[in-house]
Amino acid sequence: MDEESLQELVHDKLGDYLVIVVSNREPYIHNWEGEEIKCVQPASGLAIALDPVLQACSGLWIAHGSGDADVDVVDENNKIQVPPETPRYTLKRVWLSKSEEEGYYDGFSNKALWPLCHTVYVRPEFNKSDWDMYQKVNRLFAQVVIEEINEHKAFVFIQDYHLALVAQYIKEQHPNVITAQFWHIPWPNSEAFRICPWREEILHGLLANDLLGFHTMYNCNNFLETVDRHLECKIERERYAVIKGGHTTLVRPFPLGIAFDKISARANSRHVTRQVEQLRHFYGLGTEFIGLGIDRVDYTKGIPERLKAVDRFLEEYPEYEERLTFVQVGVPNRMRVEAYQRINDEIDELVDKINWRHGIGRWKPIVYINRHCLQDTLTALSRLADFCIVNSLQDGMNLVAKEFVASRTDRDGALILSQFTGAARELPEALLINPYSIDDTVAGIKEALEMPRGERHKRMSRMRKTVRSNNIYNWAASIITELTNSEFFEA
Ligand code: G6P
Repeated sequence: MDEESLQELVHDKLGDYLVIVVSNREPYIHNWEGEEIKCVQPASGLAIALDPVLQACSGLWIAHGSGDADVDVVDENNKIQVPPETPRYTLKRVWLSKSEEEGYYDGFSNKALWPLCHTVYVRPEFNKSDWDMYQKVNRLFAQVVIEEINEHKAFVFIQDYHLALVAQYIKEQHPNVITAQFWHIPWPNSEAFRICPWREEILHGLLANDLLGFHTMYNCNNFLETVDRHLECKIERERYAVIKGGHTTLVRPFPLGIAFDKISARANSRHVTRQVEQLRHFYGLGTEFIGLGIDRVDYTKGIPERLKAVDRFLEEYPEYEERLTFVQVGVPNRMRVEAYQRINDEIDELVDKINWRHGIGRWKPIVYINRHCLQDTLTALSRLADFCIVNSLQDGMNLVAKEFVASRTDRDGALILSQFTGAARELPEALLINPYSIDDTVAGIKEALEMPRGERHKRMSRMRKTVRSNNIYNWAASIITELTNSEFFEA
């Protein structure tokens, strides 16, 4: 499936439907830089993955306007055509006050639901005032959707854990609107979810959807088990459906993909090729081997564990000193939340300590790029690395792993991948590790560095085949096909 075939499918199946995507994070953010307004794509797997889908369907995307120049570039309906250089669809921005953002986004979304669903031993914080704000903001998003729908036939595609109640609020007023929701993060087992004081309300909210998607079957099973345990309703296991109050919700796995061909083309572009050399020069990446990590700075990503593995690797195999440089891109994120400030500080300290301990003359084992980077820069870094480590302690999918594969048009490079990512289920040719074991990660680095070229090619070719065929257009097409084949869909 490619962009054009997705376009045809949307036209055939949803031709007279208004297609609306709703998410917290917007795909393009406008910020002031001095006297100029700059537009960036955020470091969000969700936003980057869905952008090509919207470009193919030319729908409407509703999201929180989080940039400080966002308000200066929209029209009187808070809309702007994006991407800025070649507009293909409409972005409608929703404005939140500071206290709404604090309660709904920092608070209930990121202090409660995020740690609750990731189970990496960061304790969720449940505050009634955050929950109240979460409900209020979910209503606000629903209201903006409703205004857009008016009397149209509409398909509303809701994204992620920030908006668990939106479908319910929309259906209260428009029961015939079709809604699907994709949960981009893991769904924990029912025992872990049980501690949430508003677990029933969240489940009710999600079950207002006609279709509910997760990355893996494992997440779907956890969700059904949670519903079974906490709600009065009928679960049809053979159909993966929940029936509550006469309404059916289908629960399905749809592993998220990327725009493989676009990323491969970008990797081959003259601009990125030039950047590879510029980056090598700028960061002093002249060593024989380069390792790479690209993440938002988040305690689920295993960044300290990864740095400790590089440290231990150099201790165990000193013959690699001055021959290996590890580049870590850490995009700062959610910095008002204390757990994120702590992880930022921990990483800074570790980088200093490891560089001090192993550094010789000009060579430092770790280059830490602690800021937002453009997609071109990330692709260039992926091209120049010998291996990439994705050692998330828990991750719904992890698109960095897939982007690394898409960037390697030379079929070289090794991928060290946590077995606790959704991506690991699709990429058994990666070097799979347990991220909680530093020894395992050290062994992964050793294997990556010493793997014969032919073996690297064989593995990378297989991974490229998988990532190319399970691409983002396929993902969107599977969701649309599932919906339009279902009983509630009227052509
Ligand atoms: C995860 C979530 C996304 C989110 C992204 C970035 O991938 O599933 O919903 O957009 O992280 O986080 P942020 O809080 O910056 O949107």
